[in-house]
Amino acid sequence: MLLRTPEFSHLLTRRKLKMTPSINSVHLLLLFLALFTFSSSSAAVARPHALVAQLTKDAANLQYLTRIHQRTPSVPVDLVVDLGGRYLWVDCDTNYASSTYRPAHCRSSLCSLAGANGCGECFSSPRPGCNNNTCGVAPENPFTKTSTGGELAVDVLSLPSTDGFTSSSPASDPSFLFSCAPAFLTSGLAAGATGIAGLGRTRVAPPSQLAARFSFRRRFALCLPSTPRAPGALFFGPGPYRFLPSIDASQSLLYTPLLTNPISTAGTFVDGEPSYEYFIGVTAIKIGEIDVPVNKTLLTINKKTGEGGTKISTTVPFTTLETTIYKAVTAAFAGALANVAKAPAVAPFELCYDAKGIGSTRVGAAVPAVDLVLQSEKVFWRIFGANSMIEAKDGVLCFAFVDGGRKTRTAIVIGGYQLEDNLVEFDLGYSRVGFSSTLLFRQTTCSNFNFTTSG
Ligand SMILES: *[C@@H]1O[C@H](CO)[C@@H](O)[C@H](O)[C@H]1NC(C)=O
Ligand SMILES: *[C@@H]1O[C@H](CO)[C@@H](O)[C@H](O)[C@H]1NC(C)=O
Ligand SMILES: *[C@@H]1O[C@H](CO)[C@@H](O)[C@H](O)[C@H]1NC(C)=O
Repeated sequence: MLLRTPEFSHLLTRRKLKMTPSINSVHLLLLFLALFTFSSSSAAVARPHALVAQLTKDAANLQYLTRIHQRTPSVPVDLVVDLGGRYLWVDCDTNYASSTYRPAHCRSSLCSLAGANGCGECFSSPRPGCNNNTCGVAPENPFTKTSTGGELAVDVLSLPSTDGFTSSSPASDPSFLFSCAPAFLTSGLAAGATGIAGLGRTRVAPPSQLAARFSFRRRFALCLPSTPRAPGALFFGPGPYRFLPSIDASQSLLYTPLLTNPISTAGTFVDGEPSYEYFIGVTAIKIGEIDVPVNKTLLTINKKTGEGGTKISTTVPFTTLETTIYKAVTAAFAGALANVAKAPAVAPFELCYDAKGIGSTRVGAAVPAVDLVLQSEKVFWRIFGANSMIEAKDGVLCFAFVDGGRKTRTAIVIGGYQLEDNLVEFDLGYSRVGFSSTLLFRQTTCSNFNFTTSG
């Protein structure tokens, strides 16, 4: 069966043909057909409606992990999720064994697709991550703020398919492009993680690669769990995104445009490269529906310096605000809760309360809502107690936002805790972000997706 051939197998095929310049045209045709048949038959599992991966919360490091299956024979690989990361990278130094690993040869289309220039040599015996005449990229660890060189390669990757209700048999991409990294780059990652799944706005990050491979619109959705005990879900492709009992979180999303920051926010980048992170346009902040006075210049991305604005991040555990914004927001929040007894600060939080003084509701602690107002007064991301307050210590509830300092590059970084039990859809095709606000209102959580396979 000939499915619409995904662009990545074309690219791979072209590369193989270029490497065999001496054969005549009949052979070339046969070779082409053989490769074509090979790549389409391995991709010819019935085209999945969408894919789904588990997302688990690591309580020790406050990181979120996902699991893919990779290589031949296939093994589970746990990766930390970095929403703004450029591509997927894994430690190839430690136990990487696969019969389907293929490094990207210098000047091949794979290299240009990944923006990888240059041509590398490796002075050791050949193995995954160490081959001659291959191009390299710069995998990055946002926790240790380290980046290094890594060989670009392809290998089989598979994820459970889904109809949006349950997970089912895996779908495989026979030539998924990723970067190898040396073992030291995994330092600072949650236990068990051997790399990072970068989900940024590049052609080679999993959302775009999987969309091309399986012919769905470039769209993915993140539903981070609030507990380490049960996984949340990461969907690639269209909804429904259904959580038990029967809540389709792809319904009634509010949308806001994705903004482009023309200046890269990555650790290493070339001049002129835009940021691959997800920026949205917060125009005001309200606490208990009252406008908090903040410096609006900081809320706007400075097109020359790339400073300012608001981005969404899974590698920052709590929403981080530039100092003046932080002070204004905490003062407004403290003012609205003036009649509740305070408790001593519990780092990194400054504003804490005796939990006995605060009631609880279905959507968490009964505190004034924090609204991030977007493109109009009517479109705002409302943050309720479940996402604004954290029990930082027994009996102490703290306002779960942190001071990012004066020199912070991005004024507002919406972090993991504020995303938990919210479904956030990143629609690259339509350049927009859809958000659900807390699913607790709809009596479900991100941990209620019906995963029927352990994958
Ligand atoms: C790469 O080539 C150099 C010599 O040009 C050789 O010493 C080295 O072993 C080769 N490395 C691999 C991984 O084949
Ligand atoms: C607002 O922020 C901008 C950018 O940091 C700064 O240049 C300006 O002085 C600030 N305005 C006020 C009134 O503090
Ligand atoms: C989860 O999905 C499986 C397989 O489709 C189904 O048998 C099971 O009833 C579902 N569980 C719930 C609680 O709906």
